[in-house]
Amino acid sequence: MTDPIKGKHILLGVTGSIAAYKAADLAGKLMQAGAVVDTILTKDAAEFVTPLTFRSLTHRPVITNLFDVDSELAIEHVGLALRADIVLIAPATANVLAKLAFGIADDALTTTILATRAPILVAPAMDAHMYDHPTVQANLHTLRSRGVTIIGPAAGRLASGLVGMGRMVEPLTLVEYVRWNLGKHGDLHGKKVVISAGGTEEPLDPVRMLTNRSSGKQGYAVAEAARDRGAAVTLVTAPTALPDPIGVNVVHVMTAQQMHEAVVNAVHGVDVVVMAAAVADYRPASAADQKMKKGPSDSMSIDLVKNPDIIGSVNGPFIKVGFAAETQDLIANAKSKVISKNLHLIAANDVTATDAGFGVDTNRVILIDRAGRIEELPLLSKYEIGHRILDRVVALLKPGA
Ligand code: C5P
Repeated sequence: MTDPIKGKHILLGVTGSIAAYKAADLAGKLMQAGAVVDTILTKDAAEFVTPLTFRSLTHRPVITNLFDVDSELAIEHVGLALRADIVLIAPATANVLAKLAFGIADDALTTTILATRAPILVAPAMDAHMYDHPTVQANLHTLRSRGVTIIGPAAGRLASGLVGMGRMVEPLTLVEYVRWNLGKHGDLHGKKVVISAGGTEEPLDPVRMLTNRSSGKQGYAVAEAARDRGAAVTLVTAPTALPDPIGVNVVHVMTAQQMHEAVVNAVHGVDVVVMAAAVADYRPASAADQKMKKGPSDSMSIDLVKNPDIIGSVNGPFIKVGFAAETQDLIANAKSKVISKNLHLIAANDVTATDAGFGVDTNRVILIDRAGRIEELPLLSKYEIGHRILDRVVALLKPGA
């Protein structure tokens, strides 16, 4: 199991907002993720961006007009509606929202949408005053109550010069929404998963801390992969530079003790616990209230006390997966952690490699299970690594595994 977008038919509806130019980027990103993208442009959208742009990016015919005899898709828009695994209208104007709310079918896009039974995602984009208008709000309410997913709009500077709600949500985020929706009935549907990520920060005083080089990328990628297989995911994360993944319940913590408390609170009734966080083994015995001053002595020492072993201390009827970031004796160290922390599986990686481990988007891990079986994975994206780990988790969740 991999990216749920791969091979799926996505019907992309583009309507006449200035944000239509971003829809070209969106079409490209969906294509790169492996989707088959069919685009319908409204007449007004085609004023902002040409059908040729989408045709070039998606390598597929683009519909602008139901009666366009030159378009092979025009005559079979109902077939297109039925074939779609998901519909994404981005950007969606106030006008198209009104039409969808009232079932008006006066062009290729609105006609096709009435004919589809696929999930519909809508990313509104319009001026802030238009968005605030009670009519638009009422139409959004109607669409939501019928199961349409409304994404955004985001706040910020608008083409009109106003600052407010009305910007189309960014293409990368829209791709995440598509993944999340397509994956809802995946092999972790109905399962609860808790994941830890990031490097904990242990304060010495208000301006200094002990931390490590973890970027949080691998833990976040496991969270996204679990979400994309239908799991309900809680991500307990130490500070990172990463945005909160959409569709995931994110709990922000700073220290190992806070992470411990948050994980203990989150694991009740869960099916899987994956601890990808780089947790400080020790913390300063006390943190000063004020910034520590330089003293006359040429040396100083800091008293450290041991932190709780989070994964080692949570036990229950769930699958436990740990990580072992090592700089030497990778397999031997990882094997002993499987036993000492009572894990079902450990993902071991050599963090001295430049293309794997801390900070980068790729990783090379070795999976070791309780029986000592070793599976060496090739260099993969951290998201793909997340899926490979979850493939093993799904197998472990099967009765009798
Ligand atoms: O012992 P070490 O830190 O190498 O073990 C790594 C694994 O244990 C990771 O899964 C990490 O998230 C987890 N861990 C933990 N609590 C700690 C230290 C590590 O849960 N205090």
